[in-house]
Amino acid sequence: MAAQIVSGFELAKEKRAQLAKEVEKLKQAGIEPTLSVILVGDHPASQSYVKAKQKACEEIGIRSILLTFPADICESFLLEQIARLNEDRSVHGILVQLPLPKQIDELHVIETIAPEKDVDGFHPLNIGRMMTGQRTFLPCTPYGILYMVQSLQVDIAGKHVVVVGRSNIVGKPVGQLFLREHATVTYCHSRTNDLAAITSQADILIVAVGKPKLITSQHVKEGAIVIDVGVNRLENGKLCGDVDFDDVKEVASYITPVPKGVGPMTITMLLNNTIQAAREQHQ
Ligand code: GUN
Repeated sequence: MAAQIVSGFELAKEKRAQLAKEVEKLKQAGIEPTLSVILVGDHPASQSYVKAKQKACEEIGIRSILLTFPADICESFLLEQIARLNEDRSVHGILVQLPLPKQIDELHVIETIAPEKDVDGFHPLNIGRMMTGQRTFLPCTPYGILYMVQSLQVDIAGKHVVVVGRSNIVGKPVGQLFLREHATVTYCHSRTNDLAAITSQADILIVAVGKPKLITSQHVKEGAIVIDVGVNRLENGKLCGDVDFDDVKEVASYITPVPKGVGPMTITMLLNNTIQAAREQHQ
């Protein structure tokens, strides 16, 4: 039987309606949740991600302020801009869109963002809090994935979660989030020997590597839940994930599509984190 498609788009719509009500309540209390987004350079994918984030903010009543800078700015200039936003009490969340140009050290930039305004959840202090189970901002894509899997009403405890990919933004933290939910977690990456032998043991398979259609039905156990984080642009202009959707949907129990899968959930969790930041900064 073909897998059920998990629509991040529909789930995001429901969650955003709930978040819009929270924004309204904050506004009634005189607080206008505000996100400051920094975009450096003219990377086309980054431009479209930033546009989508701003549109989503606007739709639920969050104020968003976009600061754009040319690709050749120096690191110290960018760090000064962040320091200024850290001090600005009307700004609750700061997001620097990645990747950054080569001359700028991303870790310096992330470490400069005040942890209480780090709505991406990328600051090492917030990553440490996540890993030790403390209250913090959860990184948006991993948080969105966890939310999607929880919406399926499956018991995550004891399940074998296999993560393919080990980026700081998705792979590493998503494994940690599922570990917190008592899953058994295995990481695979570009140096893994016999990928299919490991991925085919997964009850929940999460793929975030940026390689179009890397995962086929040969890699997937019958009845597995498959979460595809990849967003790859094909030569014909179409988007495709890291999972061969048409092939894998014949063996999986649930599968996320690309587009309208994980992407809308990432943005929804950014909205969630910005509201959390506004609330906590006014407590
Ligand atoms: N680049 C790709 N994904 C992300 C993200 O979630 N946040 C930021 N800041 N940059 C990204």
